[in-house]
Amino acid sequence: MIDIRISDVKWMKRAICLASLGKGRTSPNPMVGAVILDKNGNLISEGFHSKAGMPHAEAMSFNNLKKDATDGTIYVNLEPCCHQGKTPPCVDKIISFGIKKVFVSIKDPDKRVSGKGIKLLKDAGIKVHVGLCEKESQELNKSFIHRNITDNAFGVMKWAMSMDGRVGLKNGQSKWITNKDSRSLVHSFRACFDAIVIGGNTLRKDDPLLTSRGIRQPEPLRVVFTKTLDLPEKSNLWDCKLARTLVVYDASTADKRFLERIPKGVDIEELSSDNPILLSNLLAKKGCNNVFWECGPKLATSAIKAGCIQELMTFIAPKILGGVSSMNPFSDFEFTDMDEVFNLNETEFSFIGDDIFVKSTF
Ligand SMILES: NC(=O)c1ccc[n+]([C@@H]2O[C@H](COP(=O)([O-])OP(=O)(O)OC[C@H]3O[C@@H](n4cnc5c(N)ncnc54)[C@H](OP(=O)(O)O)[C@@H]3O)[C@@H](O)[C@H]2O)c1
Repeated sequence: MIDIRISDVKWMKRAICLASLGKGRTSPNPMVGAVILDKNGNLISEGFHSKAGMPHAEAMSFNNLKKDATDGTIYVNLEPCCHQGKTPPCVDKIISFGIKKVFVSIKDPDKRVSGKGIKLLKDAGIKVHVGLCEKESQELNKSFIHRNITDNAFGVMKWAMSMDGRVGLKNGQSKWITNKDSRSLVHSFRACFDAIVIGGNTLRKDDPLLTSRGIRQPEPLRVVFTKTLDLPEKSNLWDCKLARTLVVYDASTADKRFLERIPKGVDIEELSSDNPILLSNLLAKKGCNNVFWECGPKLATSAIKAGCIQELMTFIAPKILGGVSSMNPFSDFEFTDMDEVFNLNETEFSFIGDDIFVKSTF
């Protein structure tokens, strides 16, 4: 048993804060931070996992050590790994440096670790406490956890609409519904995602750039999901100097002659159907922990029906588009009873100038 002091919470919060510095760069890995105290409780080192392929947080903090860590304490927001990946196991480092106490916020859902790291530490005679600041750690690494549990990427869907709930005019025009600040905010959101998905029709109608405007380098992967492959010869997404682009098509319906229109440099993958969960699964396999769905109503509806979406982001602008034929954010979910409709949770509201931003979870 380890007695918890207020200072333990403080150091774990610091580890979580350090972990968050890796946001947008660690996938397929989690965001992890570590703090080391000496045997007298003084801070002697800290580190975080800055990027996939770079040392893990624990290794980083041991590399940064300024004093002897023997009989010291380490705080880490995720269970230390015990397998040889691109970098050596962190459990071995903790043991070899003579650490006496380990505070782990949450277990690693990765099947190669999942409790084994904690067991190895305990077997080595180290006192281990699990569960400090659990909620914060789960929130920070929700995408990594989701991918490991479901084999699919964590999906966040975003749309912009008018006060009368329209995402575009009858003729497909939708630029711009929201104000400049809301659009800049979307660029910064993109920087936190591994991939951004649109459907073929949004590519044809809007020809978007889908970048973070340089906030994240390299930019997130841009993904076009198409049933027909009937994509234009010219498109902003074909310029892969800015960001990588992946076209994913349904092999059961697409006309493969259209593949000729897609320039070299653009990645192409086929799926056996148009079920968006196959796309989510493909992107997870490619190492995407999270995906930002910026599609129009048809793909948005299919993606929600398929269970690809865990969170929703809505921008509401003080405009009225009107018209029964203007676009809704979604097509028909075929609900026939109010008991069937989606009840959203944890809804938060904020103002972006005169736009309203709403965030909810399913
Ligand atoms: N205001 C906003 O926030 C916002 C955001 C995005 C888009 N839009 C507007 O939305 C309009 C496009 O709407 P859309 O509904 O056609 O959007 P979309 O994002 O293009 O999605 C539909 C397209 O996705 C592809 N697709 C692949 N699998 C699918 C599946 N299972 N279910 C449905 N589609 C699948 C198809 O492409 P192929 O046709 O190539 O086979 C289909 O035409 C544009 O006018 C755009 O301006 C508005």
